[in-house]
Amino acid sequence: MSDRAARVAELEAYHRDEVAVCTRCPLSEGRTQVVVGSGDLAADLMFVGEAPGYHEDVQGVPFVGASGKLLGTLLEGIGLTRDDVFVANVLKCRPPGNRDPQPAEIRECEPHLFRQVALLRPRLICTLGNFATKLLSGRPDGISRVHGHELPLEIGGHATLLYPLYHPAAALYTRSMLATLEADFARIPELLAGAVPAGGPVAPREESLRPPATLSAPAPAAAGAVPPPARAASDEQLGLF
Ligand code: URA
Repeated sequence: MSDRAARVAELEAYHRDEVAVCTRCPLSEGRTQVVVGSGDLAADLMFVGEAPGYHEDVQGVPFVGASGKLLGTLLEGIGLTRDDVFVANVLKCRPPGNRDPQPAEIRECEPHLFRQVALLRPRLICTLGNFATKLLSGRPDGISRVHGHELPLEIGGHATLLYPLYHPAAALYTRSMLATLEADFARIPELLAGAVPAGGPVAPREESLRPPATLSAPAPAAAGAVPPPARAASDEQLGLF
């Protein structure tokens, strides 16, 4: 068995044996099902959103609502489909009422995401909105500041390129943001093709997010960087700042 096939098998087993039956946090009590992730388990391109909503919880698939429709359209615009990529979320279970993920929930759930990244080894990880961006970058910078700026880093001992994007929900909510999201999305093929090599030279802070980071496990700073959950249907949730 090739190394790639072995990692796909391991990821399948991890999803089945660890994620789909997870009871690490109280969200497991209210869910219909765990939304593990969907798409190609050997994809070079991964998208990471925030958390399942109502439709995702019912169907067990991430991004099946309005945001997911936009994600599909954006992918189509660069010649890809959902089957070409792997899509997951920071949280695998739906927070009640679609509220923001809480720091304790992120802390309990993030080992699943880091394991997914370590086994998938995507060349490019597009984080959608603030929660995924802050968690995987390990930094507190808001999405309006860092969107469209690729960041080489290492996760699980493997070089990858983090590419923060506005959350599709933000683009549905604010039309001007859709143009920004489309423009940022248009660079994905070039980034995937290695125009900016994953793990390559790191640009100065002004040109990229920050110096290279090594994330082999959930970074304590990342948990601390997650904003408090006292916001209802906030702009933050929509990745607006
Ligand atoms: N659906 C998801 O699966 N994740 C999001 O972040 C939003 C909608």
